[in-house]
Amino acid sequence: MVGHIHTAGFCLAIFLGTVTATANAATIEPQDVVIRDAEVEASLTGSPGDPVEGSKWFKSRKLGNCLACHGNRDQIGEPFHGDIGPPLDGVADRYSEGELRAILVNAKSVFGPETIMPGFYRVFDGQRVREEFQGKPVLTATQVEDVIAYLKTLKEE
Ligand code: HEC
Repeated sequence: MVGHIHTAGFCLAIFLGTVTATANAATIEPQDVVIRDAEVEASLTGSPGDPVEGSKWFKSRKLGNCLACHGNRDQIGEPFHGDIGPPLDGVADRYSEGELRAILVNAKSVFGPETIMPGFYRVFDGQRVREEFQGKPVLTATQVEDVIAYLKTLKEE
């Protein structure tokens, strides 16, 4: 058994493990995010997100699920737009990138403890959290940055 460990697959696994560890080095973990004056200044990953990916997380019922609460003219073709939160048309004109990041990481830090908007980059261990989300944030750091990049495209014409 142990003798078979020197396979190409095993070496590849070590290689991929090293690459992943390097890529994660710049990532700020949920418990380390600093929210100051309702802003999180720096990208959680150290790089800008991808707006095309972000638009997918925005409408995904399993991930961001932003559309369940927010209208958004840019996604007018999608079936259901909720109205629990304000429409996000032109949101890029209302908030800076750092403010959008703080809202996404932990909406309570910007809107106060009563807001019903969930925090998307916090670690939860409460009873009310679905088991798959216990102990990990709803979105990854990369997904948060993707959504921010997408929100930055939502300008009033
Ligand atoms: C459960 C409903 C809910 C979900 C899901 C939700 N939000 Fe919100 N959001 C709100 C509410 C409510 C507010 C208004 C803040 C307040 O007063 O509580 C808000 C406010 C905002 C604002 C500020 C808008 C403005 O014009 O002031 C942004 C930006 C935002 N949400 C982005 C998002 C994004 C992006 C997602 C998905 C990753 C999301 N929200 C998911 C309920 C939600």
